[in-house]
Amino acid sequence: MTDWLDKDKKNIWHPFTSLTDETHPILITSASGIYLHTHDGRKIIDAVSSWWTNLHGHSNPHIAKAIANQANTLEHVIFAGFTHEPAIKLSENLLTILPKNQSKIFFSDNGSTAVEVGVKMALQYWYNKGTPKKKIIALRGAYHGDTFGSMSVGERSIFTDPFSSHLFAVDFIDFPTEENEQAVFAHFKTIVDSTDVAAFIVEPLVQAAAGMRIYSPGLLDRLFFYAQTKDVLCIADEVFTGFGRTGKLFASDYLVNKPDIMTLSKGLTGGSMPLSITTCSEKVAEAFETDDFLKTFFHGHSYTGNPLACAAANASFELLMREECQQSIWRIASMHNQFKEDIKHHPAIKEARSLGTIVALELKNEEETSYSNSIRKKIYSYFLEQNILLRPLGNVIYIVPPYVISKDELTTIYQAIKKFLNSL
Ligand SMILES: Cc1ncc(COP(=O)(O)O)c(C=O)c1O
Repeated sequence: MTDWLDKDKKNIWHPFTSLTDETHPILITSASGIYLHTHDGRKIIDAVSSWWTNLHGHSNPHIAKAIANQANTLEHVIFAGFTHEPAIKLSENLLTILPKNQSKIFFSDNGSTAVEVGVKMALQYWYNKGTPKKKIIALRGAYHGDTFGSMSVGERSIFTDPFSSHLFAVDFIDFPTEENEQAVFAHFKTIVDSTDVAAFIVEPLVQAAAGMRIYSPGLLDRLFFYAQTKDVLCIADEVFTGFGRTGKLFASDYLVNKPDIMTLSKGLTGGSMPLSITTCSEKVAEAFETDDFLKTFFHGHSYTGNPLACAAANASFELLMREECQQSIWRIASMHNQFKEDIKHHPAIKEARSLGTIVALELKNEEETSYSNSIRKKIYSYFLEQNILLRPLGNVIYIVPPYVISKDELTTIYQAIKKFLNSL
């Protein structure tokens, strides 16, 4: 097996990983439920749902069967000028659960491209209407992906520094807290009133990569309301928050004022296949309903609407809609909430927060809260030694488990975290 790892080291460039990283990646040979099975016989709890994608457990038999059946029928077909049942069925399934104002489904392959599509759709909406507006408003601390457009609408950071001169300018407003709500709203209003604003993009209720920072639906609703009154398109990036992560099916379900455009990925296929979707309201679609060829939305990828991924998404949707799954989501939410209450006064904790199936603990140390906080490595290796995969965001430890996690398994993770905090 070390032979495989040597070949890996020689050939493969892993994401978010330095090429001089001394540590070997862990070789996974299979996975089932919440467990990753390593080549040397270890069973690691996937407490982060493999980058927040997995909902129903690894190698889920219902999803696996749907992919296998589809692979034997139609694996892929060009999606311009052609279509297929899995994509049509998925569009129908999604439209039954998305906010009622959503009316069109556009496919791509990952969260970043879903955002890219959403931003392009918003900008072209104004171009097609003959009043090209340029400005985009985003939240400080935002992370929307790694392509140029999605980097542009995100916070400038160590991730974006090498490309900073190539990113387009965006107007950022502060991340809302109880203390700054009025100031944030006033700043937002000033920018929106400047008339050239095309769109406002947010990760609704939770800024994931920024450290699972949670904010209230109240202010977001006010911001959406004001933006929409002034004809600014609102984009909800639900790549992370979609499909039950926040307790409700979508974070937008907590809002009265619904987004004009939504982006979805991660949980869409239950963590099994790469797929993403950008949806929009009839109002947005109308600007593209024209015989003028030059107003076509010229965007697409080779694997757009891949039938295997759509079949996986339909199977995941069926599991998600089962009563059993919805109950698991609420069970996890209530356990997380209790854990947060129990732990929040621990001397090592600066802030504990939870929403739905997400719980996050921001640790105190002499450094600032950030992705590069040096405690990150210590946390990561400590928990891996306990056979728990927790991939902290700097000094923020969080749990985002697959929904099939049992009460006992979740308790095991909580206890391991308590033990770690007591050791600090
Ligand atoms: C809110 C949000 N948007 C977009 C992305 C980018 O998704 P992907 O990694 O699939 O490109 C992420 C990834 O973490 C995300 O959290």
